[in-house]
Amino acid sequence: MTNAIYLTTTEPYSGKSVIALGLMNLLAGKTEKIAYFKPIISQEGEEKDGHLKMIGGHFHLDTPYEDMFAFTRSEAAKYINSGKESYLIDTIIDKFKRLQGNHDFVVVEGTDFMGGSSNIEFDGNISIAKNLGIPAVIIVKGEGKSTSEIVDIAVSTTKGFTDEGVQVLTVVANKIELDKDEEIRTHLTAALPTGLIVTSIPSSRDLGSPTMKEILESVGGKVLFGERMLSNQVDNSIVGAMQLHNCLTRLQKNTLIVTPGDRGDIIIGALQANISKNYPKIAGILLTGGLQPEQTIIKLIEGLETVVPILSVKSGTFKTVSRVANTQSRITIENKEKISLAIGMFDQFVDVKALEKKIISFRATGITPRMFQYQIVKRAKEQKKHIVLAEGDDDRILQAADALIKQEVVNLTILGNKESIAASLKRLNLSLELAKINVVNPATSDHYEAYVNKLFELRKSKNISIEMARDLMLDVSYYGTMMVYMGDADGMVSGAAHTTQHTIRPALQFVKTKPGITTVSSVFFMCLPNRVSVFGDCAVNPNPTSEQLADIAISSADTSKMFGIEPKIAMLSYSSGTSGEGQDVDKVRKATEIVRQKRPDLKVEGPIQYDAAVDPTVGKKKMPNSDVAGQASVLIFPDLNTGNNTYKAVQRETGALAIGPMLQGLNKPVNDLSRGCTVDDVFNTVVITAIQAQ
Ligand code: ACO
Repeated sequence: MTNAIYLTTTEPYSGKSVIALGLMNLLAGKTEKIAYFKPIISQEGEEKDGHLKMIGGHFHLDTPYEDMFAFTRSEAAKYINSGKESYLIDTIIDKFKRLQGNHDFVVVEGTDFMGGSSNIEFDGNISIAKNLGIPAVIIVKGEGKSTSEIVDIAVSTTKGFTDEGVQVLTVVANKIELDKDEEIRTHLTAALPTGLIVTSIPSSRDLGSPTMKEILESVGGKVLFGERMLSNQVDNSIVGAMQLHNCLTRLQKNTLIVTPGDRGDIIIGALQANISKNYPKIAGILLTGGLQPEQTIIKLIEGLETVVPILSVKSGTFKTVSRVANTQSRITIENKEKISLAIGMFDQFVDVKALEKKIISFRATGITPRMFQYQIVKRAKEQKKHIVLAEGDDDRILQAADALIKQEVVNLTILGNKESIAASLKRLNLSLELAKINVVNPATSDHYEAYVNKLFELRKSKNISIEMARDLMLDVSYYGTMMVYMGDADGMVSGAAHTTQHTIRPALQFVKTKPGITTVSSVFFMCLPNRVSVFGDCAVNPNPTSEQLADIAISSADTSKMFGIEPKIAMLSYSSGTSGEGQDVDKVRKATEIVRQKRPDLKVEGPIQYDAAVDPTVGKKKMPNSDVAGQASVLIFPDLNTGNNTYKAVQRETGALAIGPMLQGLNKPVNDLSRGCTVDDVFNTVVITAIQAQ
């Protein structure tokens, strides 16, 4: 079940309001608390976004206006142009998640396509929907398009979204010609993927026609008379340049008469026609050329009881008529009739029952890298932990520490010399205050003796003397690990300047494994373009036995679950199913059996090749009955050679962010950094260490 929907279109004036109003009305009758969110609004400056005002007001939403959107269009452009897209997406996710957390359902409205490049905007909508992890409703504007054009746009837009992993619930062809309803629906149903709901909504004159107020805003004039009736609907316009008797023959219901300001005859004639039972009601009169009616005419009008709006503009008749023709109608909070009409149309044309079924049966697939990073940082902050960073003499460690403290993700102890750390912070131009972190020099620390004695006690059976323990405790990996063992810190991160062996050996020696686990192993969270996969073990066990491989798979599945990724384990090999033979394949086959016996609750497949594990088409072909093939999220490599090289190859060749290695199976969290790590790698590793410690 989803509790949010993304409404998107491909061009302006596609009639999103009808779908937005209809959906909100449907949900208001089913759930208690609904919210409406627009990641990027077109409205700049003081005035509020019309849609948000209308939806918020009509449904009496409790959300403050500033929480209903994340950015204005110009703010968004600024962040994109300065390469800060990730900040943009993180903020959108953050605001959306807050609404989602406090409401039963959130309707999210995509951008208005009022800017320059519609391609960028199209991709932007896909990216936002994907990062929010919610399904889309695609609205295609049918006005002025042939059936095949509508179908082409619907198919390519749907493909654009589904290719990126965003599920599409329904495609709505809106504002279509009345008599083409059946034809368009048939063609769309044939061209779009099966199971997708196809909706077509005919164009409505009552919804599409602007009001006199919208005409006034569009032509930029002033009101001379009839301010009270600015909500009059304008269905058509004529130019009053001919003689009055000719003009009268062209009047229809809700006509706007555009005429030069000095044509008193047309003005009076039109006003008379409006109240005559022999002529239709008119919408209003628009006087051009900046000309005002003569005083006698004004006096006459002033004496009338009801007067339709009479507007005056400076521009000439030709220019004014073209502006009138281009005026688009919007549904506003004041226009209750249009709101009711829109809701009525939604109910009439949308298969509400089928849509409800789709909403209920929706299952989110995968998690995007930004969503993953957002979630892990949020989780770390929820229960702040104390992490020790062993390498205070490394610049990357200090830079990451600065960001971690500023964002209040964790509390930190940094091992090293206070004076040299202070000098490095100054050199790096970091404003991190030493008072906000705990700096410890193992050699001069008050805990040194106690830690030496503890290490001696724990390792004396392994032929360690007290002198050796003294030496070892001067080593930052031993000291940091001992802090964690003694409960003086919740987790340790090291390895920016030390080898993996050096970093993790103390943990293997005395932190030891969790009950029921005999093998310490590691995973990487591989942030691929549209999903996060868990790779294990790429850092610790050079040549695992079947039993160790099973342990690695089980630990990796549990880690995966812990980080919000549904585990589907692929036990990788050069053979899928029963197709290949050999010692290495047998090892993986046996490991898969052990996982099945030990943890029948886990979905596991093996031996299986990488392509069959992750590619739905290959998976279906090679292992048609498997519920893992083609959709594996946890990939277990048969040995360190394969695992380490694969993760590095994927990382380098695809640009994927690899978070880890995260050690699993230890009693307390200790994590290793690669010596080639970046500041972001340090930041992310501390975040996952803090979560492991929770
Ligand atoms: N799980 C649980 N305990 C273990 C494990 C394990 N996987 N490996 C070793 N231990 C324990 C041993 O039982 C032993 O305990 P004891 O002293 O109490 O009896 C202790 O750890 C030390 O064992 P050693 O056999 O001496 O292992 P050593 O410390 O030499 O090496 C290590 C362990 C570091 C994990 C080793 O297997 C190794 O070098 N692995 C490869 C690391 C590597 O180079 N990775 C690739 C680079 S990382 C990257 O690219 C991100």
